[in-house]
Amino acid sequence: MKLALPLIVLLMTAANFARAETILLPDDPTFVKLGKVIYDSECAACHGPNLEGQPNWNVRNADGKLPAPPQDETGHTWHHSETQIFEMTKYGIQKFAGPDYKTDMPAFEKKLTDAEIIAVLSYIKSRWPSEVRARNTKMSGG
Ligand code: HEC
Repeated sequence: MKLALPLIVLLMTAANFARAETILLPDDPTFVKLGKVIYDSECAACHGPNLEGQPNWNVRNADGKLPAPPQDETGHTWHHSETQIFEMTKYGIQKFAGPDYKTDMPAFEKKLTDAEIIAVLSYIKSRWPSEVRARNTKMSGG
């Protein structure tokens, strides 16, 4: 999916990256709204319409793969920095776990723009309780 984003947002994103600071915008209502649209069409099938993940998400299946974890505060997405979550979504888990790692998590590099990935992750972050958000921001260098 390709969504048109205001130029100002794209410039802001590029600027944030260059400074290697926090990159998500969970307090920006336009961004969060866009992110929900992307989440519902690209992520909800596996991570759950309400970010709840798949049942027994921390137990590997018979094929050795993990089910999709929750994206809410009960999962461990928030234990990673904003840039790490961004890279996992863009390049896939193999980038971190090695090329032989078997996983159902797709890489979204060819499907979503950087701004769209930031929008969807901003939506996810906007759903975390404020204390969890604050901890994640701190570990992201914010
Ligand atoms: C086809 C199913 C599927 C889809 C679609 C999917 N994911 Fe995943 N995702 C997974 C699985 C399975 C994992 C667990 C990865 C593993 O094997 O360790 C995962 C893991 C992740 C993680 C790492 C979580 C952690 O705690 O380390 C992030 C972040 C993530 N997904 C984000 C997304 C986003 C954002 C989208 C939509 C743009 C998305 N995923 C779409 C299946 C999916």
